[in-house]
Amino acid sequence: MQENGLSKQEILKLLDEKLAKDLTYDSGSILGSMCTEPFELAKEVYIKYISKNLGDPGLFSGTTELEQEVIKELGELFHGNNLIGTFTTGGSEANLIAMRIAKKLHPEIKSPEVVVPTSAHVSFDKAADLLDIRLRKVNLKSNFELDLDHFSSLINDNTCGVVAVAGTTSLGIVDPIGEIGNIIEDKNIFFHVDAAFGGFVLPFLNLLNKKIPPWDFSVKNVDSLTADPHKMGLGVIPSGGFFLKNGEILEKTGFEIPYLAGGNFKHFHIVGTRPGASVIAFWVVLRSLGINGFKNVIKNCMNNTQYLTQRISEIEGIKLSVNPIMNVVGITTENGKSICDLDSRLRKKGWMLGKFEDFNLIRVVVMPHVTRAHLIKFTDDLEIVVKDLKLTC
Ligand SMILES: Cc1ncc(COP(=O)(O)O)c(C=O)c1O
Repeated sequence: MQENGLSKQEILKLLDEKLAKDLTYDSGSILGSMCTEPFELAKEVYIKYISKNLGDPGLFSGTTELEQEVIKELGELFHGNNLIGTFTTGGSEANLIAMRIAKKLHPEIKSPEVVVPTSAHVSFDKAADLLDIRLRKVNLKSNFELDLDHFSSLINDNTCGVVAVAGTTSLGIVDPIGEIGNIIEDKNIFFHVDAAFGGFVLPFLNLLNKKIPPWDFSVKNVDSLTADPHKMGLGVIPSGGFFLKNGEILEKTGFEIPYLAGGNFKHFHIVGTRPGASVIAFWVVLRSLGINGFKNVIKNCMNNTQYLTQRISEIEGIKLSVNPIMNVVGITTENGKSICDLDSRLRKKGWMLGKFEDFNLIRVVVMPHVTRAHLIKFTDDLEIVVKDLKLTC
């Protein structure tokens, strides 16, 4: 550490230099991220209220009430009735909370297992590792949809929970959540839906008259849901969301911190101190956009998705992994060759995509920061690289 402090000017100059390496959303390079530039007023408000700490909710009862207001509104959006919920650091923490609840509700199971799709996010592997739960992974069919027969076959006396994904990380696929609800009917198994990405896409796609099968609390047996404001919700980082149908579970399984200055509140969190400003910033997004504002955001992303899929279909040598339901596009080779060279060549040209080697696909997430102009430049480069690599052979 240096001896004396620097001036503000010196510090800001140093930071500009050090952070010049970072990519920016408006550059167009970031095509494979599920995060985006937060809503402008949300950023302003976040700075203003940055010191609010929901780790001690009694000290910040206004922010605590605001969190309840947001949870209630979002709960209704997800067809929940009187549910409870909380902001988290992101989808990983929300999924970890769900996995912990699944285990805690079944103390009689000595070797607990949770059934998850192979396409589930790595946060479930992390949670299983931390909680000493055995994950039973369900195969996908060749079209990347869940194999429901395999799903059923993995359920046994040790199953304390099942997971479905509403918007997979790799392809934005929505698992057959109604059917899974039927499979676990009368089985006393905790059912968690990971809609970390899809949670702020699917409700608005529905309102835009896209037929989406039931995926949220409208499915009777769904117990909890993850939906992240810091992905398609335009919230600030960190903003995840955990929603739970039965509030009594908090009494049964929540943590207590007896020493808090603001008094004792039961909670599910892995973290203690947590940013109230994230909640306040998202309240601002909800107030600013309303349903119609979100519909417009999704409409724009889907129009750009349609443009991208059309361009991909025109390039010989590559194809779509599946027809996208939402704004997540998987690109694979027509002849089955590995996508690794394609990914690294695109990377060298400055395009940062997600690479899913298991599914042999590269992924574009058509986030709100991705413009038509970015996609035109990207697909022009994509066409050149595909030709160079002779993927048409
Ligand atoms: C479906 C899904 N769930 C959970 C997560 C984890 O979210 P986070 O990175 O906010 O922890 C992701 C991240 O992309 C995701 O796609």
